[in-house]
Amino acid sequence: MKRAVYPGSFDPVTKGHLDIIERASAIVDELIVGVLNNNEKTPLFSVDERVKMLKDVTVHIPNVRVESFSGLSVEFVKKCDASFLVRGLRAVTDFEYELQMAQTNRSIDKDVDTLFLTTGLKYAYISSTIVKEVAFYGGDISGFVPETIVDRVYGKISQKAKGKTSEV
Ligand code: PNS
Repeated sequence: MKRAVYPGSFDPVTKGHLDIIERASAIVDELIVGVLNNNEKTPLFSVDERVKMLKDVTVHIPNVRVESFSGLSVEFVKKCDASFLVRGLRAVTDFEYELQMAQTNRSIDKDVDTLFLTTGLKYAYISSTIVKEVAFYGGDISGFVPETIVDRVYGKISQKAKGKTSEV
């Protein structure tokens, strides 16, 4: 059984992430998408919301499981009884950080290798950060995130904006 973990923040999931999930799940027997529950960052969506969004957009892929995790990715890999990590590379700017992360992970646990997939060219410029930025200014994000995610992003951003206004 070849099992892999695709870890990330997914705040929110983009079409680029989904492209990686679809292609990685075609290579392995089971792909576990690991949603990082990071207390140090303040994500737009809660970890449960991010897990739900990923479950919704991967419902058509039977060998994909979505779970949240805290702590080290390599420990989550072991917990899942998986043998490698999957990461997407969009452009050369990703390379340095991804290389450092893969090498760190392998120095923590030499049995955990990282498999890199290059993001589809049409998604190479998309990031969760860009999605939030464009949505914040009312731009069209339908090309960046799966259809069922679009309104959740606008909804959450306006909810946060209202929260901020009422605090003042
Ligand atoms: O989607 P992101 O934010 O680029 O994903 C980054 C992620 C979650 C893969 C990375 O921050 C991570 O693995 N965090 C867990 C802590 C960890 O294992 N750190 C050691 C690797 S540097």
